[in-house]
Amino acid sequence: MIKLSDVSKTYNDDFGEPYTALHNITFEIKEGEFVAIMGPSGSGKSTLMNILGALDTPTSGSYFLDNKNVASLTDEELTLIRRHNIGFVFQSFNLLPRTSVLYNVTLPLLYSEVEEEERKKIAKHALESVDLPEQYHRHLSNQLSGGQIQRVAIARALVNNPKIILADEPTGNLDSKTGALVLDTFKRLHKDEGRTIILITHDKTVASHADRLIVIKDGTIVEDSVKKYHAI
Ligand SMILES: Nc1ncnc2c1ncn2[C@@H]1O[C@H](COP(=O)(O)OP(=O)(O)OP(=O)(O)O)[C@@H](O)[C@H]1O
Ligand SMILES: [Mg+2]
Repeated sequence: MIKLSDVSKTYNDDFGEPYTALHNITFEIKEGEFVAIMGPSGSGKSTLMNILGALDTPTSGSYFLDNKNVASLTDEELTLIRRHNIGFVFQSFNLLPRTSVLYNVTLPLLYSEVEEEERKKIAKHALESVDLPEQYHRHLSNQLSGGQIQRVAIARALVNNPKIILADEPTGNLDSKTGALVLDTFKRLHKDEGRTIILITHDKTVASHADRLIVIKDGTIVEDSVKKYHAI
């Protein structure tokens, strides 16, 4: 489903100096896997997430998503491939302030053909699947706890029924108990719904929930291992 071959990414900073954030990254992720990508701050995790999510393209190397060469797609095709394949949970997930939870979750559907009533139905279903009780659906986004906001962000990533969920530090701002709730949500989406989960984190304990661990340091993969048993 995901195939990176020799992917490198070089940025030019404000002074025009090139900086290579990813060096020759090669790996595959199969449908239904639950993978953690772990590395310290500045190691290239978000750069990698942007490439995996087809939000950015490699400077060299190739990326095939669903057997399509991402570099060869037009912007319009990229938008469609993202919409149909990937649910994003960003670290700063930017719920619209002072709008209802339900409306926030329907947002990705606004550009689709789906009618308003159907949009609400899909959004409610997504909120149920992340265990956010109905009493909160009418709450405004600024009247929620951190863990609730995070689950709304996951619900929003689910409404287009994506095969892949790409989450950048989804538990970064949460205490361990609330973080565990969010991780349970990912586990269920993986186990019960067969979704491919890619969880980006700097935290070893968070990463231990995944079945496979890819460790990145200074833009290079230093470990790629499948876990034999679960920590929890
Ligand atoms: N647009 C950019 N222009 C220039 N350099 C960049 C750009 N984006 C990222 N970088 C550099 O690339 C490196 C990797 O950044 P990246 O955001 O991928 O790290 P990260 O692993 O996600 O870190 P964090 O855990 O702090 O989020 C950093 O050294 C960063 O300064
Ligand atoms: Mg980052």
